[in-house]
Amino acid sequence: MRLDRLSPANIRVIMSQHTPERIDVWLTQIRLEADDVASYEFRPVGSPDLPAFEAGAHIDLHLPENRVRSYSLVNDPQERHRYVIAVQREAAGRGGSAWMHSVPRVGDRFTISLPQNDFALCENAPESIFICGGIGITPVVSMIRRLERVGAPWHLHYAARERMRAAYVDDLAKVAGADSRVSMYFQNEDQRLDVRHLVERVSAGAHLYCCGPRGMVDDFIDACAEHPQEQVHFERFAAANEAANEGGFEVVLHRDGRRIAVSPGKTILDALLDHGVDVQYACSAGVCGTCRVGVIDGVPDHRDDFLSTEEKAGNCAVMVCCSGSLSSTLVLDL
Ligand code: FES
Repeated sequence: MRLDRLSPANIRVIMSQHTPERIDVWLTQIRLEADDVASYEFRPVGSPDLPAFEAGAHIDLHLPENRVRSYSLVNDPQERHRYVIAVQREAAGRGGSAWMHSVPRVGDRFTISLPQNDFALCENAPESIFICGGIGITPVVSMIRRLERVGAPWHLHYAARERMRAAYVDDLAKVAGADSRVSMYFQNEDQRLDVRHLVERVSAGAHLYCCGPRGMVDDFIDACAEHPQEQVHFERFAAANEAANEGGFEVVLHRDGRRIAVSPGKTILDALLDHGVDVQYACSAGVCGTCRVGVIDGVPDHRDDFLSTEEKAGNCAVMVCCSGSLSSTLVLDL
């Protein structure tokens, strides 16, 4: 299991470990959805339709400098002529979101993966309850559009720091119509979303979905401990643990014998990139699996949510974006 308490089927990691098939698309629209949140519409190159996708699916966007970023599709899964994603500018991020907010222009050509879905929707649940925070709304937008199409009941609880930062509020209000199926909670207006309280009130057969910041997802997992786990679904944008950046050890590149010191404040990935080592990475948060590297000797300090408990115990691999080392030297299969 990738996490101790829930089955991997319920966890939507940001990117699959396996390299999916890629396609080229045109960027056809950029739209501001909220403060620091922009949406990007992509249309196919050379064919009328894009591959179909399911609600909750995501695509990987291939950016310059070997960066890959995964984003949920927010449009109606019924649509075949376009994919739409939304990106929140992250001041503390690794630059992918800042790049997305400043460089791309309509008419640019992008390479993306085919959609993958690790956060699947149960369409025939008697009720679907969504609990979201901030940019965690994105996969849920397409899920709600889908539930509307099949006429299934849903309710959304959506927390944001302030109104101006809450994306897709108007779209969702339109979808919900006159019904009060969207409950908003704005932190700056002292409206608190009490995850445990919400979970305790759901009906027996309800499926619960959560996507948002680390603290919200942790609360959700705790609150759902007694709920049937096949009805509990969540998505993390970051691993439950802080990244290891205490440094103070060396990594050895097995293939050429280079020794690279990982100094305090740096992750293994930082140190490798600083020394020009070509390592693929995407989420930089220990959830997607892209940066997995084999370990030949040494004991990693695993901080990710990607490797299984067994894989972590076996110490045969390490997610270099967030994990450190418990031994003074870590010999990597690089
Ligand atoms: S880059 Fe995603 S797990 Fe390391």
